Amino acid sequence: MNRSSDEVLYLVVCAAGAAADVGRLVALAQDEGWIVQIVATPSALDFIDVAELERQTGRPVRSRYRKPSEPKPPRADAVIVAPATYNTINKFALGIADTYALGVLAEAPGLGIPVVVLPFVNEALSARTAFRRSVEELRADGVRVVLDAGDSPWERALAELGVAFS
Ligand SMILES: Cc1cc2nc3c(=O)[nH]c(=O)nc-3n(C[C@H](O)[C@H](O)[C@H](O)COP(=O)(O)O)c2cc1C
Repeated sequence: MNRSSDEVLYLVVCAAGAAADVGRLVALAQDEGWIVQIVATPSALDFIDVAELERQTGRPVRSRYRKPSEPKPPRADAVIVAPATYNTINKFALGIADTYALGVLAEAPGLGIPVVVLPFVNEALSARTAFRRSVEELRADGVRVVLDAGDSPWERALAELGVAFS
């Protein structure tokens, strides 16, 4: 699939080990024609190479709300949360917006922006009622939660986004 030249994918990156490999997802999304804007949770900043991702995307990695005097960033045409942590998934489902990443997520479903969530959550946490309830509630809001990503999670997340646009 090739996007038109100005479509912006917000890639919300959480504090999971897999965040170190998110540059590969950026490259795959760029190959499809997306402009990629990285939005990191504050905790995720310790897991990623900010300078390298800024070089790759040509845009600043954002992790905090803008100041009221700062210009509004371009609106997202789509959002992928990858890797999505237990913490962020549960906060997203509850409607908490206390970080910029969660603020983006809080508004997206209501704006009709497709959101794909790619959980990286171990068996102990994914067995919790809180997590299962969050997945159900997010899906009820139209959020696409990929629980069976297999060996190619980045490709799977992009494929799921493709379904949202088909
Ligand atoms: C090395 C390391 C790896 C982690 N990997 C994961 C993970 O794969 N999934 C997860 O849900 N939490 C993981 N965590 C825990 C999260 O970092 C922690 O819950 C954090 O509060 C998540 O913040 P965020 O959701 O705002 O990014 C990991 C923590 C560390 C130190």
